[in-house]
Amino acid sequence: QHLALIVQPLLAWYDANARILPWREQPTPYHVWISEIMLQQTRVEAVKPYFDRFIRTLPDIAALAHAPVEQLLKLWEGLGYYSRARNLQKAAGLMLDKYGGELPRSYEELRTLPGIGPYTAGAIASIAYGIPVPAVDGNVLRVVARLTACSEDIGKESVKKQMAGMLKQILPDDRTGDFNQALMELGAMICLPRGVAKCASCPVAGLCRARELDIVTTLPVKAAQ
Ligand code: ADE
Repeated sequence: QHLALIVQPLLAWYDANARILPWREQPTPYHVWISEIMLQQTRVEAVKPYFDRFIRTLPDIAALAHAPVEQLLKLWEGLGYYSRARNLQKAAGLMLDKYGGELPRSYEELRTLPGIGPYTAGAIASIAYGIPVPAVDGNVLRVVARLTACSEDIGKESVKKQMAGMLKQILPDDRTGDFNQALMELGAMICLPRGVAKCASCPVAGLCRARELDIVTTLPVKAAQ
């Protein structure tokens, strides 16, 4: 399969260029979880100081579960979407009650927790546990739509599933978390939206169907909602 050719160059690029981010220093399940929830609706640069303060104040699942709600909301102040903080605490309580005080170790169990959708479950399972599941967010959809010259609407659930399916087939078993983060990183640093893609610096430009067809700036297609 043609797409499989991206794996090695993408990982080599990631090894040389990955940003140093606080949640990458000790990618424990708790750290990965908190960071992915913060990153759902907030940019990386904005999340950094919030993540550091949150982890210093509430260093583990038990501390989060037992924190006074005013303290929790104070830690979240400025990030917005406060339901994320409430869901974190609810999920922490469930982890204490049902999972021995840890994050559950499977994609399916992670999915059952409040605030954890398909993307976040994939990110935690792959980054924290090395489970070979894709983690498809908006950046990854854009990267894959361009690599495969997919002109379908990436807002469609069927298209997301199709892309997740393709990625699942090429995920390297030994570096699944790095591979998923490398795709996110490529989307955040190089394969930028609209006309600002930095194809000259892209480690997989030679494998990109959109570039071959000169349609990079037209992809991805996203119908108005
Ligand atoms: N956005 C969402 N998750 C991320 C991660 N793990 N690294 C960088 N950007 C991200």
